[in-house]
Amino acid sequence: MQSFIRHRRLRANEAIRKMVREHQVQVSDLIYPIFVVEGEGIKEEIPSMPGVYHFSLDRLDEEIQEVVEWGIPSVIVFGVPHEKDECGSQADAEQGIVQKAIGRIKKNAPSLYVIADTCLCQYTSHGHCGIVEDGVIVNDRSLERLVSTAVSQAKAGADMIAPSNMMDGFVYAIRKGLDEAGFDHIPIMSYAVKYASSYYGPFRDAAHSTPQFGDRRTYQMDPANAREAMREAASDVAEGADILMVKPGLAYMDIVYRVKERFDLPVAVYNVSAEYSMVKAAAQNGWIDEKGVVMETMHAFKRAGADLVITYHAKDIARWLKEER
Ligand code: PBG
Ligand code: ZN
Repeated sequence: MQSFIRHRRLRANEAIRKMVREHQVQVSDLIYPIFVVEGEGIKEEIPSMPGVYHFSLDRLDEEIQEVVEWGIPSVIVFGVPHEKDECGSQADAEQGIVQKAIGRIKKNAPSLYVIADTCLCQYTSHGHCGIVEDGVIVNDRSLERLVSTAVSQAKAGADMIAPSNMMDGFVYAIRKGLDEAGFDHIPIMSYAVKYASSYYGPFRDAAHSTPQFGDRRTYQMDPANAREAMREAASDVAEGADILMVKPGLAYMDIVYRVKERFDLPVAVYNVSAEYSMVKAAAQNGWIDEKGVVMETMHAFKRAGADLVITYHAKDIARWLKEER
């Protein structure tokens, strides 16, 4: 060896740094979550998620146009219905809020890829993701409701179904239901590895989906477990999932990495609500450099192996990427 090794040669200026950069964050990786509510003329900021709004259908168009203009390829749509009941009747209603929103988005922006979140918790009076019998979230009866919800979303025009309910067999049941209803071309992005997380707090404020009794720990995963995540992902692969999602993101990068290493499917990570709120709160206080922190996190997701990132920061990221060019 003639001398010690000079790593700094490849860090000397932005040109060479860019040439040797291993991972890129691209706007085409991003999926932007949207909350739709019933009513008219509503664009209301969600207090714990600055910059994220509830939209009624008539105000949704402007938001969709903005998303398209930024070049964000895809949205995931969450409906917040007026009416809730025991079995979540509104979840699969033909004229349900999310069905109407999906139809409207596809009509006004046909090239925007619309993903439907398939769950019952926004629609049930008890706020659980499945059907409750004697205080227990029962699995197989929940599947029937979830299948019919997924089919109704596909009928409304959804390009992809993303089931977030964590019942056993949901990928199998929904795949079969979609196929039988003539939607064998619609992919499933499974919330394959979803932890029972405190990082969902602001989302539950936004979606009005906090459980009215107990918690979600009989169906969502224990944050202490990693090997179990491999079993969850493996069963979804076997049942026909097209994309595997890990959720939340930040505290579960090891899981993103392992899922990517072990399985050959594309991997999505959900950069969830509290991850967003914490950044926004600190940024508003002037305590952090928002762009720096967000872009660093996005690179971390890419390094860990995420192909797709669902994030409330999507519009900001699109703007920052554009400014750089
Ligand atoms: C509903 C659902 C949740 C999220 C996405 N779909 C909440 C939950 O399971 O309690 C969380 C998203 C976020 O926190 O941004 N099943
Ligand atoms: Zn749910």
